[in-house]
Amino acid sequence: MTLEDIRALIRTVPDFPKTGIQFRDISTLLAHGPGLAATIDHLCERAEALGPSAIAGIEARGFLFGAAMAARLGLGFILLRKPGKLPVPTIGHDYALEYGTARLELDPTLVDDGRDVLIVDDLLATGGTALAGAHLLRQAGARVDHAMFVVDLPDLGGARALEGADIRPQSLVAFD
Ligand code: PRP
Ligand code: HPA
Repeated sequence: MTLEDIRALIRTVPDFPKTGIQFRDISTLLAHGPGLAATIDHLCERAEALGPSAIAGIEARGFLFGAAMAARLGLGFILLRKPGKLPVPTIGHDYALEYGTARLELDPTLVDDGRDVLIVDDLLATGGTALAGAHLLRQAGARVDHAMFVVDLPDLGGARALEGADIRPQSLVAFD
């Protein structure tokens, strides 16, 4: 299955969650067996070329792709969680979203110093979420040089924002 086939399986929902926003919905891709398998194949092929020592996924949709990749590649998977979910002391970082504000938290004891961590999420919009994740992982002692997404929304400038923090983003498909 090609990247164009994968792109065609992503549904666009107008005016969600606010008027004027075209929401790119991966539910339809996840529900399609061959599409989901091909998405994980493409992500893993790119991740293998980078050779990370662990994968960090961003709650919630980043968990789906990141954990599948980690299992396939035999790597550990680190949770970047929404606030108040982790049962241990955490470090946290607040950030702005395309719509609203949010916070990510990390258990820093999961990160070994110098570990080369690949960030995975479903979608790159402004880049605020991935940058918050990178900030936390770096604060915990990790190296974060790469981030991987299924979808990029290039008009929202996320790739530029990540490059400004020395993180190289890769995405399978883009929507203008
Ligand atoms: C969405 C998406 C990314 C983030 C991208 O997550 O899954 O994590 O927004 O936006 P950004 O690049 O502008 O930061 P959302 O907060 O909606 O969470 P969910 O995965 O739990 O639905
Ligand atoms: N789709 C899914 N998640 C998102 C989007 C979108 O268009 N924008 C920001 N997060």
